[in-house]
Amino acid sequence: MRRLPFITFEGSEGSGKSTQLQRLAARLERLGVPYLVTREPGGTPIGETIRELLQFASHNSGMTPETELLLFAASRSQLVREVIRPALERGMCVIADRFFDSTTAYQGAARALDRETVDRLNAFAAGDCIPDVTFVLDIDATSAKSRMQEPRRQDRMEQEPAEFYERVRKAYRDLATREPNRVALINGARNEDEIENDIWEMLCSRFPSLTTDH
Ligand code: TMP
Repeated sequence: MRRLPFITFEGSEGSGKSTQLQRLAARLERLGVPYLVTREPGGTPIGETIRELLQFASHNSGMTPETELLLFAASRSQLVREVIRPALERGMCVIADRFFDSTTAYQGAARALDRETVDRLNAFAAGDCIPDVTFVLDIDATSAKSRMQEPRRQDRMEQEPAEFYERVRKAYRDLATREPNRVALINGARNEDEIENDIWEMLCSRFPSLTTDH
């Protein structure tokens, strides 16, 4: 039986999700809680190759939305079986930088792919690894964009127009309404300390095992 939670962080680029994930990891480190951080796409040798193909490969500009969906699902199914499930079974806390809700928001809502197909593929790739809690860092598209460091190499997705990111944001907000027990919408426009404390309080109240001796 699992003792420690599977936690995912979601949000658009520039939302601050990766910063908050690192802050949570640092807290767990200080408390001596065994944890593992993953990222998607990627997190395994196969997944990192898929990430490069999705984001930067010179021939990826003609990628169809269907291919994109399948590649994200492929990266995830590898990550779940090679890394996430074994870590949870070893009694570790897993913190994931993106998981299947990204597919729901980006491929399902923003790319407008068939919702049932997306749900089915998400379920197929994730198997029994369903996040216990998901933090969605919510921020408007203009503020998010201004937070992204420049100059940097823009990936394929980051070249999408503002409307694409509005659809992503709306999809995450809808998800939090549909699944309030799992998905917590966090106002990402506040300062980093405040957000970190909110997330930590929520986690401690739901998973007291995080603060007991390890
Ligand atoms: P990031 O995690 O470094 O922000 O980059 C991952 C990019 O991939 C980001 O643009 C979101 C996108 N993405 C999807 O479109 N669908 C997915 O299922 C996942 C995991 C990521």
